[in-house]
Parts: sequence; structure tokens; C-alpha cells
Amino acid sequence: MSFTQLSAFVSVVLAATQLSNAVAVNKRVTCADGNVTANAVCCQLFPAVANLQQNLFDGAQCGEEAHSALRLSFHDAIGFSINGGKGGGADGSILAFNSTELQFHANSGIDDIVAGQFPVFQTTNLTAGDFVHLAAAVGTANCPGAPQLDFFFGRAPPVAPAPDLTVPEPTDSVDAIIARFADAGFAPDEIVALLSSHTVAAADVVDVTIPGTPFDSTPFTFDTQFFVETQLKGTLFPGNGSQSGEVLSPIPGEMRLQSDFELSRDSRTACLWQAMVNDQTRMTTQFKAAMHKLELLGQPDTLVDCSDVVPVPPALNAMSAALPAGFSAADVQGACQATPFPTLPTIPGPETSVPPVPGS
Ligand code: HEM
Repeated sequence: MSFTQLSAFVSVVLAATQLSNAVAVNKRVTCADGNVTANAVCCQLFPAVANLQQNLFDGAQCGEEAHSALRLSFHDAIGFSINGGKGGGADGSILAFNSTELQFHANSGIDDIVAGQFPVFQTTNLTAGDFVHLAAAVGTANCPGAPQLDFFFGRAPPVAPAPDLTVPEPTDSVDAIIARFADAGFAPDEIVALLSSHTVAAADVVDVTIPGTPFDSTPFTFDTQFFVETQLKGTLFPGNGSQSGEVLSPIPGEMRLQSDFELSRDSRTACLWQAMVNDQTRMTTQFKAAMHKLELLGQPDTLVDCSDVVPVPPALNAMSAALPAGFSAADVQGACQATPFPTLPTIPGPETSVPPVPGS
């Protein structure tokens, strides 16, 4: 066969392959309940999604349970190392072996969502890993502005608890955080992307005297305010007892984690952090990609793409980031040497306090 004949043959084969891939992607199955999905095996997930929305997320709310389900998926999956020996990754071990993993200091506060999820988990036929990571995708979808996260289906039951010391703590140095994530296969830009999650977050146990204290002024919307407000000037909390790991926020009622504060100012992550400000598309695209990687940690490539069972999140009403009322550009502690902090409008009116997240 001449080179010309060979390349023509290769082109025909490639075209045929692309066509069959396109057919596979576009395939649609109508389930017995009328739902439509790409793969028949995903049909069994629609009742589980409805069950989660009704019995865990108070009818599709972006509240405490949705926030905590997202956090739980991280604490489960990060029990993994690309070098081996640190757990089964996104296997649901945190739910199935909760009596072991809830003893770990970094899992403080996780007990509430495990207690909330366990009875719902038992009413499904899902493995613990599928349940934990489906719950995270569905809970996140309740938050306006969030991306529709992927969900891959078919994890085996977990075989053992993850070992201790895989989950980063807010008191960890940036060096330690970057090293732990690298050990699990994540680069610094992916750490920043994953921390977009703290836009729908509050702390119960960092400071037990103020449960439900949010990390930004809009804990029920997946917007970029978290990246704005962590960049406001602040000082380290004295760091004793339950308050260690906290940085004072100039916004009344809000908390900054020491780790978020330092990552927002470290030369390895500051520009990535700042780039998220007012760039909803960048934040949601990078968060979705990093979450996709997270939910597959330690899992075989035989899982089935059932992402189309995840609800489409509501859109954001206000697309523009802003400085909170009473703040100006002078209150921003920009830390990216290459680019100035973007100019943002200030929300009109007097300075206000951020209320706690109910149910915490
Ligand atoms: C450097 C890495 C991280 C550290 C040190 C960290 C630390 C924390 C801490 C201390 C809390 C508050 C716990 C409490 O007092 O109740 C928290 C909450 C939360 N974290 Fe992280 N986190 C990290 C990364 C992540 C990642 C990668 C995700 C998800 C992809 C995540 C999702 C959340 C969510 C959604 C909450 C709020 C939970 C709720 O409101 O119930 N975190 N995190």
C-alpha cells in the first residue's frame, strides 16, 4: 500500500470512529419513568436523585446539607495518593466506615452530614461511593450559578477506611497543602479551582461559639464573592483552642479560613485566586473539571457517565462581583504581582452583617 493509499485508509477509519463516537454520545434511552438519559444503566439513578432532593436537601435547597454533601465528597475522595497506600479515593469509605474516619481531627463537623445521609443511603441500592458523589453533584446543583457537575456511576463498595492525615486542615501551611494535593494528583491551579466550593460554605467547628459562620456574604449562591472577600485586608486570629485556623474578616458575621487567606496571598496561587474574581465562567469551568477528577480518584475507568441525571443548576441573578457595602478598593490586599486587582463596584448602602447559615 502506498503512503497516499494508507493515509486515505486511515482517514476513512478515523471518520468512521468519530461517527460512531458521535452516535454513542447522542444516544438517548427513555426510562420506564419517562426520564431520558444517555445510558439505560443510569435510569435507576433518577429515583435516587428525587429521594436526595426530598429527604436530604429539603426540596432542592442550597442549604447546610447541600454544602456539607459537597464537603463530604472532598473528605472522602482525598483519601488517596498517586503513590499508593492512602485509601481508596472516591469510594464512599467516609460513609461506610464512618466510625473510623469521623475520629480524624480534619473530619470534625462531618458527623452531621453523615448522620443525615446514612438513612437516605440505606433506602437506595447504591454503593456508598456512588451515593456520596451523587449527593455532592445533586446538592451543588441546588446552588444558583453552580456548574452541572459530572457524575460517573458504578463504584465498588469500599474495602477499608482511608488512613488519617489525608485531609488538609485550615492550620496547614501552604507548602503542606500543596504537597498533600500533589500527592493526590492535583496541581496548585486545581486546588484554587476546588476551593471555589467555599463560596457555598460555612464553618460550625472552627469556632464553636459561632456555628454556621459563612465564608462569604452569599453562601447560598455559587458566585465569585468568596474570591473577592478573602482578598480584603485582615489579620490572623490569635489562634487558640477552637478558633485556631481562623482569620478575622472585616465583614461582620463572616469567617475566613487561615488556609484560604494564605492561599489567596501566596505567590504560587495568588494570581489564580484573583483570576476567579468576577469570572463566573472561568470559576465554574475549572471547578467542574477539578471535581470530575476528584470524583474519579482511585476509581476504574469502567464507570459509566451518568452526568445527565444531575439537575441543571438555577442561573445566577446578579452576575457581577462587588465589594460589600462600606468597602472600597483601599480595603483590598491584592497579592498578584502580575496583574492589579480588578475594579469592582461597591454594593450601595450601609455596612451589613452576614447572617449565619441556618441548620448549622
Ligand atoms: C486546603 C483545603 C481545604 C481546607 C483546609 C478546608 C477546610 C474547611 C473547614 C475547616 C471547613 C469548616 C468546617 C466547620 O467548621 O464546620 C470547611 C467547610 C467546607 N469545605 Fe473545605 N477545606 C478545604 C478544601 C475543600 C474542598 C476541596 C472542598 C470541595 C471540593 C471543600 C468544601 C467545603 C464546603 C462545601 C464546606 C462547607 C460545609 C458546610 O457549610 O456545612 N473544602 N472546609
